[in-house]
Amino acid sequence: MSAEQFKQAAAQAAVQLVQSGMVVGLGHGSTVKYALDALAARLHAGELTGIIGIPCSKHTQNEATRLGIPLGDINAHSQIDITLDGADEVDPQLNLIKGGGGALLREKIVAQASRREVIMVDESKLSDALGTRFALPVEVLPFAWQHALDFIAGLGGNPQVREHNGMPVLSDQGNYLLDCAFGRIADPHTLARQLEGRAGIVEHGLFLGLVTDLLVAGPQGVRHLSRG
Ligand code: A5P
Repeated sequence: MSAEQFKQAAAQAAVQLVQSGMVVGLGHGSTVKYALDALAARLHAGELTGIIGIPCSKHTQNEATRLGIPLGDINAHSQIDITLDGADEVDPQLNLIKGGGGALLREKIVAQASRREVIMVDESKLSDALGTRFALPVEVLPFAWQHALDFIAGLGGNPQVREHNGMPVLSDQGNYLLDCAFGRIADPHTLARQLEGRAGIVEHGLFLGLVTDLLVAGPQGVRHLSRG
């Protein structure tokens, strides 16, 4: 099976955790796309009714709308029952690096508002220590992006502005994204606090202590790991 088929298997298993009447956070990325397809299939088969999706990106909003998944406004719901999302890197404590798709700010807002944060990955996303497989995405205000970049360089992050066709990529909020190759992040909690203490850094892709469920697909099938 290919990595894409593993992603699809993890997504299909995650969608089985959704029940009728739930408010469902919908993340962003290629794995989430498989989850949207599976969710729409359950809705159209009449297996699920009354769900409300809360999309984490404009792209997910468009995809979900196209598939006929009912959507709502996050501000109309005090809590999200379950969120289905992907990740770029997962450590043994189920901490994550996210933001490869540029949606980390809304993804973190939705994760923090969720009772269950379900992450769907193929085995290639597992790592012993965050930063060893993926550069950490950091969203910064365009106003002082160079100062944010210099600050992160001072922390050893080797930051690069994410670009497309020679122009900075903009997040859904109109911010820049810096991809920061820290290498092995020995203490993610300390790094998170350092980034959060700097004005102009809007959010970072370290998701610490937020995951309740991890669905990992590999040649042996889909494993379900739970925390708390
Ligand atoms: C989006 O901003 C990211 O956090 C994605 O969840 C992450 O990049 C995983 O994406 P794939 O499912 O496409 O690998």
